[in-house]
Amino acid sequence: MTELFLVTGKGGVGKSTTSAATALQQADSGKKVLLMSSDPAHNIGDLFQCSLSDTEKEVIPNLWALEMDATQRALTFMNSLNEAFKSIFKKGVGLDVDLFNDMIFPGLDEIFFCQTVLEEFDSGKWDVIIADTPPSGQALRALTTPDIVGAWLSRVVALKRKFEVMKGAIFKKKTDKEMENMVEKMRSDITRFKTIMTSNQSQIILVTIPEKLSIMETHRTVEYLKKLNLEVWGIIVNRIVPDFGEEWDSELSSVQLLHSQHQVHTESLKLAASILGNMNVRQVPMVAYEPVGINNLRLFSRLIWS
Ligand SMILES: Nc1ncnc2c1ncn2[C@@H]1O[C@H](COP(=O)(O)OP(=O)(O)OP(=O)(O)O)[C@@H](O)[C@H]1O
Ligand SMILES: [Mg+2]
Repeated sequence: MTELFLVTGKGGVGKSTTSAATALQQADSGKKVLLMSSDPAHNIGDLFQCSLSDTEKEVIPNLWALEMDATQRALTFMNSLNEAFKSIFKKGVGLDVDLFNDMIFPGLDEIFFCQTVLEEFDSGKWDVIIADTPPSGQALRALTTPDIVGAWLSRVVALKRKFEVMKGAIFKKKTDKEMENMVEKMRSDITRFKTIMTSNQSQIILVTIPEKLSIMETHRTVEYLKKLNLEVWGIIVNRIVPDFGEEWDSELSSVQLLHSQHQVHTESLKLAASILGNMNVRQVPMVAYEPVGINNLRLFSRLIWS
């Protein structure tokens, strides 16, 4: 049975580092793992110091990675939709309109993200799939995609039905039939993606930092996801300045600056403890090394998961 982890959070908090380190830890434990990045500004390849593409590549034994190109897939889809609709106007009302030129329906990237994850999920090739997502807004949109895009997909289908009565209208030719099937498949994939996301086969990991505003936003995200029946499995509070005890007594301004940060983090962790209650909260310290490359990511994974 494949397990799916969706790693999400605000920009720059450590989502990709967490995803890569978790993928390594899972692969080292003997599971066959796929790490997928859906962030248009991919950096999974940089983290593993290798080049990646839209097609999965083995990074180390048991660990495969890919950087999906959802935007390109969305553009290709819009072009074919445009061609199909153009045919209505030519044949139906004598107009030649580029309806969807330079336009992408809201949530389209997210649909293709869901579909790519589903394809891998259904392939049966993986014990674990880890999806590293772009910053919060978009990632949350991916989770709420079924609701957002349901409306416009319905309109596309309604438009299709309306024009079906006209001779030579949309979806008549074989390619148009393919188009119709594609839209229908998108609808059913979205529904299934949501079902998988709400099942115990998938887990959401929220990454955040130890600052009050971030903790409060994380709390709001948890509550928001709850309303969608999506439970957050784990919260990672990353980049915590550790307690250096007596070393804080130094007069050095660099030490004092760090001490102030430590105090802010301590307060934020208290807030996290009070508002995130008994959730699975993992505290990860700020590290002195760059968590890049297999060895450093392995070290980092131990900080998260042991
Ligand atoms: N605990 C840590 N200690 C020190 N540096 C860290 C830690 N966690 C992450 N970093 C560094 O912080 C930077 C941002 O991390 P990362 O790229 O994983 O964030 P992200 O949430 O994926 O960002 P984006 O939203 O841009 O995708 C990277 O340079 C990473 O090496
Ligand atoms: Mg990232």
